[in-house]
Amino acid sequence: MNKIKIAVQKSGRLNDDSLRLLKDCGISIDNGKDQLKASSTNFPLEVFYLRNGDIPQYLRDGVVDIAILGENTLIEKGDELEIVERLGFSKCRLSLAIPKNVKYGNVQDFEEKRIATSYPNTVKKFLAEKGIKADLHIINGSVEIAPNIGLADGICDLVSSGSTLFKNNLKEVEVILKSEAVLTVSPKISGENRSILEKLQFRIESVLKGRR
Ligand code: PRP
Ligand code: MG
Repeated sequence: MNKIKIAVQKSGRLNDDSLRLLKDCGISIDNGKDQLKASSTNFPLEVFYLRNGDIPQYLRDGVVDIAILGENTLIEKGDELEIVERLGFSKCRLSLAIPKNVKYGNVQDFEEKRIATSYPNTVKKFLAEKGIKADLHIINGSVEIAPNIGLADGICDLVSSGSTLFKNNLKEVEVILKSEAVLTVSPKISGENRSILEKLQFRIESVLKGRR
């Protein structure tokens, strides 16, 4: 039987909430995160556990049909992809932050400064809109350490509880975007899988309604 292929985050904060949503939709999945691929036993669906940043490309190529992804990743790496459902969990923001003890006036203070980030496209676009030239350092994780080791004057990274900023003596000074988990779809999805997606969306919408 034909199955719809869904990508979810392999490990990280989105993973648990994504699998919980599928479970709440009454979809049982064979096994946990140990395997890279798992099948549902009661819904025509296959789950692929992938790295966040790789998911937009898999959608583009049609390797997977749909994905649960942070909007922040979609904006950074696949802003042409269609969002079919906003999922209301994994809420966070992408923000600029600087050392707590540095005085901040406004966004112009970033002129000529070094900013460490894993979101170069989003930051570049934001700075360009403000007419600011800065020097971006792209790092893939633990971005908040950068100012402390002298690699950057500021950072742009995700903020959820704010505890990572706090622990690293940083303060949030500008919010670039607000994000939550979304359900996205491949432009190459087949008609047959579109109708499976509609059934899935119907279930998701009633789960989300129940949560509100
Ligand atoms: C994410 C993000 C921030 C932090 C924000 O990092 O990059 O660093 O969470 O959450 P908080 O405001 O609740 O502290 P994560 O822990 O996923 O690790 P990584 O940056 O190494 O990927
Ligand atoms: Mg981090």
